[in-house]
Amino acid sequence: MDISDSNGGVTLVAQIIDGKAISAQIREELKSEIKRLTDKGVKPGLAVVLVGENPASQVYVGSKEKSCLELGIYSECYRLPENTPETELLALVDTLNHKKEVDGILVQLPLPKHINEEKVLMKIDPDKDVDGFHPINVGRMCIGNSRFLPCTPWGVQELLMRTGNDPSGKHVVVLGRSNIVGKPVANILIQKAKGANATVTICHSATKDIASITKQADILVAAIGQPEFVKANMVKDGAVVIDVGVNRIPDATTKSGTRLVGDVAFKEVSEKAKAITPVPGGVGPMTIAMLMKNTVKSAQMRAGEIKI
Ligand SMILES: NC(=O)c1ccc[n+]([C@@H]2O[C@H](COP(=O)([O-])OP(=O)(O)OC[C@H]3O[C@@H](n4cnc5c(N)ncnc54)[C@H](OP(=O)(O)O)[C@@H]3O)[C@@H](O)[C@H]2O)c1
Repeated sequence: MDISDSNGGVTLVAQIIDGKAISAQIREELKSEIKRLTDKGVKPGLAVVLVGENPASQVYVGSKEKSCLELGIYSECYRLPENTPETELLALVDTLNHKKEVDGILVQLPLPKHINEEKVLMKIDPDKDVDGFHPINVGRMCIGNSRFLPCTPWGVQELLMRTGNDPSGKHVVVLGRSNIVGKPVANILIQKAKGANATVTICHSATKDIASITKQADILVAAIGQPEFVKANMVKDGAVVIDVGVNRIPDATTKSGTRLVGDVAFKEVSEKAKAITPVPGGVGPMTIAMLMKNTVKSAQMRAGEIKI
């Protein structure tokens, strides 16, 4: 879209990729499938485990419970005290692994320091690993035979596809190489598959002259946790920009004294990009929608409708 600025010039304004609306559309699509499975006696079920009182984790877990309720997914939520021994958590995961009505298990991260996260993630039955973090599911994703894709990266792919920005043949530059966002986004988008087929470059903290690489991106995915790091002069005209970052910065003009921003300087980049996700309201809402989708997929596996 073009708009005239006050000087009579023309400023390009990007299409805003509305993650809230797209995630609502996905949830709506899931409702009929959940009803069909429930009528068949296979009501999808999700167990969420929270250890400790991390305020952000409490919000995430609350949203996941609410989303299950809204869609008709059976849910169990375990809120354990901060000092829960690792053995106790492992025993709970084991119980959930064997519980028929639980199709998906999500252990909210981060866990308290005395608990080994990897050990806990390894304990989750890969067939119930709706977060997609178990090494078996990571491996399956890498070889292009995925069972559960990790929710945030899968959400990034859905945002692209549902806004007509098919990554096929495009140069995608991913900023960040974490196991939960950067690496899986890159892995998903390089697959020889529908919704992928991109040429992907990954940048990280040891990458030299990042701007020279980001400027080559047809699609730029920022996931580094650095407030407003990506400036307009780092982005090619007409690029599609997906901002995964969620950063809280001081802002004296707000009631709380803070506000959320992404890894992209939204205003200036939106004057250069073809399309861009806002923060909040872009990638964030997609994560829960994709978690619900994975839970439904797991129930379809229990019903013997999907064999992978
Ligand atoms: N919307 C959602 O649902 C959602 C979900 C998950 C995460 N997030 C947000 O996404 C962001 C990234 O999360 P994460 O878990 O992937 O973070 P992370 O584990 O801290 O990883 C950050 C990555 O960015 C790289 N990096 C950091 N500073 C950099 C710089 N100045 N230049 C280049 N690379 C840099 C790091 O490089 P090295 O590997 O070299 O250290 C690392 O690979 C955070 O803001 C997080 O809150 C949002």
